[in-house]
Amino acid sequence: MDRLEHVAAEARSAGSPDVRVHALDVASTSSVETYVAWVRTVAERVDILVNNAGGAHGLESVAEGKDADWEAMMQANVLGVLRMTRAVLPLVPHDAGGMILNVGSIAGRTPYENGAAYCGSKAAELAITRSLRMELNTVGIRVATVDPGLAETEFSMVRFKGDADRSKKVYAGTRPLVAEDVAEAMVWVASRPPHVCIDEMVIKPTDQAAVHKLHRRAV
Ligand SMILES: NC(=O)c1ccc[n+]([C@@H]2O[C@H](COP(=O)([O-])OP(=O)(O)OC[C@H]3O[C@@H](n4cnc5c(N)ncnc54)[C@H](OP(=O)(O)O)[C@@H]3O)[C@@H](O)[C@H]2O)c1
Repeated sequence: MDRLEHVAAEARSAGSPDVRVHALDVASTSSVETYVAWVRTVAERVDILVNNAGGAHGLESVAEGKDADWEAMMQANVLGVLRMTRAVLPLVPHDAGGMILNVGSIAGRTPYENGAAYCGSKAAELAITRSLRMELNTVGIRVATVDPGLAETEFSMVRFKGDADRSKKVYAGTRPLVAEDVAEAMVWVASRPPHVCIDEMVIKPTDQAAVHKLHRRAV
């Protein structure tokens, strides 16, 4: 919450006085319900829901995988998207440019070894996005997914449980995306006119030609 408050304060001083923040754990149905009840007290409608919360926990073979890691990924990356969407949909106006904007991953399109649960969770996110778009076809709510490749955020620190050396190696010698690159693309997707839906966008660093094809310079 401290970090959210800090970001909100920055946004307010940059000219967005109405920014508000509230705690939310998308892995908990009761937290989602509390959050959306609060949203109803501060807004009459929701134009855009961004399902970004999530990440990877561990990088292990299925044979070595841990229940806690699998459960955390499925809870946030899969059930979180479903729960948040279910809770917010009644607030999204019809035929007015509303949007459910999910954050997937190239991992959901091309699985890699030792990433079965994470890749599976992001493949599920892609399937959910495609199903939901058909469900909402007659009410004019757009459903999109933005699927990044390698982006240097706290993703690897979370995946490797705070191991900074291992995290750094993920990006060594490459020029990865940064959060702003993905955020800018998402703003563009969300700000198309109401009759335009960018269904799926894949955004990767130039150094990453494919999941397994990463150009690393000597460091
Ligand atoms: N970085 C990459 O290379 C990459 C590539 C493709 C896709 N993605 C996807 O991009 C999204 C954002 O990840 P990131 O790279 O920005 O990683 P990050 O820096 O670790 O950010 C993840 C964010 O998700 C939040 N979150 C995680 N679990 C949550 C939960 N149960 N309830 C509410 N919030 C939760 C975290 O909040 P707390 O800090 O409070 O836990 C944090 O704000 C994720 O869906 C990730 O899978 C990342």
